[in-house]
Amino acid sequence: MDEVRIGVIGLGMGRNHVAGFQSHPRARVVAVADMNERLLHELADRYGVEKRYTSAEEMLEMERLDAVSIATPNKFHAPLTLAALAAGCHVLCEKPMAMSASEARQMLNAAQQAGKRLMINFSYRFTEQSMVLKQQVDAGVLGEIYFGRTVWHRRRGLPGFGGWFGQKALSGGGPLIDLGVHRLDLALWL
Ligand SMILES: NC(=O)c1ccc[n+]([C@@H]2O[C@H](COP(=O)([O-])OP(=O)(O)OC[C@H]3O[C@@H](n4cnc5c(N)ncnc54)[C@H](O)[C@@H]3O)[C@@H](O)[C@H]2O)c1
Repeated sequence: MDEVRIGVIGLGMGRNHVAGFQSHPRARVVAVADMNERLLHELADRYGVEKRYTSAEEMLEMERLDAVSIATPNKFHAPLTLAALAAGCHVLCEKPMAMSASEARQMLNAAQQAGKRLMINFSYRFTEQSMVLKQQVDAGVLGEIYFGRTVWHRRRGLPGFGGWFGQKALSGGGPLIDLGVHRLDLALWL
């Protein structure tokens, strides 16, 4: 595969996915989808993406994509991942993986059955501190780890006050499902 043809769904955090992919010589964002039409065109123009869709499902049907990035409110992670896998795509999905463990298992099973990669954007694994710590752990510098403690204090900066973030039906929960998943993932991975 010379070039990976990518579609990005949801252009809030997803705009950073677009920028990241576009900076890689072997990746190309060929289509973007967001139901907010103004944002869709503004960002597609900014990053030089020709194909734009207000429906992610239509994008999956119309475009021949190798991979899809999903950066929508949490409620849509599972259904869009299943749709993208069914359309033959590898998937990078934002955290939290899903609204529940059973949804997450369904996504994992679908990826395994389709023989496609499913990656969750646990971006803190890729900080320098995390990578150095992981090397140390893997090299046995800390010995056998039998206990971990992890904390995240965020005292201000609620994202999108009044939007989907504060509605359980769309977000799935509060700080644990939003920030806690990053800390748990990092602790368990280390
Ligand atoms: N990895 C990280 O550290 C990190 C950081 C921030 C956000 N996130 C995750 O990214 C996801 C999005 O969060 P955000 O802050 O960008 O939200 P946001 O509200 O800023 O952006 C979401 C975008 O998705 C669009 N959208 C909603 N439903 C859609 C659908 N069905 N199809 C197409 N587009 C749709 C909206 O119009 C909006 O533009 C969340 O799951 C969040 O947890 C991860």
